[in-house]
Amino acid sequence: MCGIVGIVSEKAFSSRTLLERLKRLEYRGYDSYGVFDGREVRKRIGGIRVEGRGRSTAGIAHTRWATHGGVSERNAHPHLSCDGRIAIVHNGIIENYEEIKKDLVRKGHSFASETDSEVIAHLLEDLLRRRSIEEALPALIRALAGTFAVLIMIKGRDKIYAIKRDSPLVLGTADGRTILASDIYAFSDWTNRAAFFDNDEIAVVGPDGHRFFDRNGKRIRKPLRTFRWEEERTGKRRAKHYMLKEILEEPSVVRRLLFSLGHDQKPAFHKLLRLIRRSRKVIFASCGTSYHATLLGAYYLHQVGMEVQTLIASEFRHFAKVDRDTLIVAVSQSGETMDVIDALKYAQANGGRIVSIVNVPHSTIQRMSELSLNILAGPEICVASTKAFVNQAALLLKLAQAFGFKVNCDNLPDRIQTLFKARAKIKAIAERIARSKDAYIIGRGLTYPIAREIALKIKETSYIHAEGMMGGELKHGTIALIESGTPVVSLINNNDADIISNTKEVEARGAKIFILTNHPTLGGSEDTVHIKTGNDGKFGILAAVAGQLIAYYAADALGRPIDKPRNLAKSVTVK
Ligand code: G6P
Repeated sequence: MCGIVGIVSEKAFSSRTLLERLKRLEYRGYDSYGVFDGREVRKRIGGIRVEGRGRSTAGIAHTRWATHGGVSERNAHPHLSCDGRIAIVHNGIIENYEEIKKDLVRKGHSFASETDSEVIAHLLEDLLRRRSIEEALPALIRALAGTFAVLIMIKGRDKIYAIKRDSPLVLGTADGRTILASDIYAFSDWTNRAAFFDNDEIAVVGPDGHRFFDRNGKRIRKPLRTFRWEEERTGKRRAKHYMLKEILEEPSVVRRLLFSLGHDQKPAFHKLLRLIRRSRKVIFASCGTSYHATLLGAYYLHQVGMEVQTLIASEFRHFAKVDRDTLIVAVSQSGETMDVIDALKYAQANGGRIVSIVNVPHSTIQRMSELSLNILAGPEICVASTKAFVNQAALLLKLAQAFGFKVNCDNLPDRIQTLFKARAKIKAIAERIARSKDAYIIGRGLTYPIAREIALKIKETSYIHAEGMMGGELKHGTIALIESGTPVVSLINNNDADIISNTKEVEARGAKIFILTNHPTLGGSEDTVHIKTGNDGKFGILAAVAGQLIAYYAADALGRPIDKPRNLAKSVTVK
């Protein structure tokens, strides 16, 4: 949710370099953007265009996902102080901005935008009247309520000042350059060394290096850490969109994860098993696609007699009873989702133990956990999550296997590869679904979480209204919406008589049925995708992959901006 980036360098760099870095964070928000190169601010509505010639040794930039104030150049960052000397970029929400603004207006400040962020520049200007910058930054942290990662520049100084609370901020160093950013992807092609800000910390970055301070302005030591973040060859390469590229990477990322769980992550994996065994209660906490992966994980674990609960993180505190015998397993691609962080804080406050399964290394959720496993899906650029979902599900399947679930996980990468051979058929089905305004996806048991995930993918990428539901629940209401020709995708595991009946019920009311199944003789030829796999739970993951392709091709047929759908952001760092 909003991406910020700043560079300070020994040698001058062009604004193109800064915009290139910002472009790598575009998945965090993409309604408008802006840069400050030490001299002037430039802002634009829409996607980031990497251009510009000006050179400087320091600069900051911002890509926005609007919260306070509509999408306009005025509301785009950077924001300036009254005298125009201070420029800031901000990710987060300043909860007491109205109060601060009122006070500053009384003192004569006038504001140019409707944002909460602008008060930061004005407040700092006010604080600097009576203080040095070293004293003003701790005072600024104390005065702000809410969440923030802020980069600050003062005209005429080749320095960036950074403060952070609850919104992500990292610092990387590479060849005489220091780069501050919302996440490591901004610089992971430059360096794998980074420092990760904790709450209420301050950094001062100049051409001679960086220094960290605590909220009282006292110098602190913060070592650079090495991170592992394997990128599949960068860029879209031959695929038309990142979404397709990332789906096609699934066999290789699953292989990487399975290898790692048997080698470098083996001790952590065994520790997770021990922690689960020792806990009286296990609750998953997650959002969006990650939630669907946990729903599938809960199904797998239930098959071996384990009762685990899974909750959408934003509702966690309303439904979870946490005590010292509760283990909370946070599952998150970004490791930064604010609702998950909030659920973990609640769980910690009630004595719960926190472990996590994340994709982005050293992310906040990983650092909040006593134990964390990496799904190793590598950078995922398309806002709609695909390969990360598959690796989350694969890890949870391995977990169930360790508790006795009978499955051959080793051939999962090959099974996904084989499924790709049905792409032409899946595309034809998707193009037919794309003609409708609604679609329904139904599943039971193993395939219920997948029905929900496929529907989410269709909504996100094609904007077709899609509902993913339990086949059994259809007749309790939703069946009223079925008309002649309404597309219903039925996910049939093995020869499940119940979901077959549910499929017949909607077919009898005129629905156009499409089937994804692992049963070799079910369904018709055109409208059925036969997925080669046995009855060992892998069908869930494979059906999800087929659904990802349906969503992709439907969106492509409709000409949607697949990698950056309207109104969405990949990393949701506000509640
Ligand atoms: C956003 C993304 C989704 C993602 C969800 C949870 O909504 O667009 O793709 O599933 O956040 O994110 P997380 O990073 O915690 O998995």
